[in-house]
Amino acid sequence: MIIAQISDLHVQPAGQRAYGIVDTNHYLKLAVQQLNRLDPQPDLVVATGDLVDERTEAEYRMLKTLLAPVKAPLYFVMGNHDNRAAFRNIFPELPYLPADGFMHYVLDDFSLRIIVLDTLVDGEGYGEMDAERLTWLEARLREAPTRPTIIFMHHPPFETGLYGMDQLRCRGNEALAAIIEQYPNVQRIACGHLHRSIQTLWAGTLCTVAPSTAHQVALGLHADSPPALVMEPPALHLHLWHEATGLVTHTVFTGDFAAYSYKTKEAISLYEARER
Ligand SMILES: [Fe+2]
Repeated sequence: MIIAQISDLHVQPAGQRAYGIVDTNHYLKLAVQQLNRLDPQPDLVVATGDLVDERTEAEYRMLKTLLAPVKAPLYFVMGNHDNRAAFRNIFPELPYLPADGFMHYVLDDFSLRIIVLDTLVDGEGYGEMDAERLTWLEARLREAPTRPTIIFMHHPPFETGLYGMDQLRCRGNEALAAIIEQYPNVQRIACGHLHRSIQTLWAGTLCTVAPSTAHQVALGLHADSPPALVMEPPALHLHLWHEATGLVTHTVFTGDFAAYSYKTKEAISLYEARER
């Protein structure tokens, strides 16, 4: 089973750039091309929040248009740049989403159980797992305590050393850790938000953070590092699940890269069906 994770799309209205700089819509088109030429195709694609930039319905309409060519089934997670009501107005047809309230859900039909958490706090950059959300999660974990499970959430619950972004992490993380520690079947907590590829052991499981499909957050490890974006290569994560070997996460950079046969030293085409 393969899960592709794209994150922090920050889709804009037509003709606009994020921060006046980054053509995020263009970069999402490149990410969609990358997703569609994956071979084998992923069983599903999970978009882990900051789907759009300014929370408007016009942006969600653009998101829908840009993602329409994706071949694999799509699943969505809320980030701090998202708005539940605007999203639901433009994506009313998604059967897995609750009609109102938090956009948590469980996908039980795959060999790896998938739990999606909604950490959005309206109008805030940080996220939160408050008592209501923790209760929901604990009930879901209690339903299947031995099934291998992956949790998707936008805000990472751990500190990264990126001082500015750590102020905007998921609040309630100690209570969340106390729950996760009781469930060794949680194979992974896969996050977004930080616009960088980051991994750490936390609460007895591996937490991973996927890079953005567009701009990345600059590596500022001092308390006074100025907040900055950097045009390091966009990428996505692929989570490969095999019962025998476990869950392995790959970083896949977005773009058309030359590949060479070790035997002939000639360039080979890995992707015959490229969209140009
Ligand atoms: Fe973001």
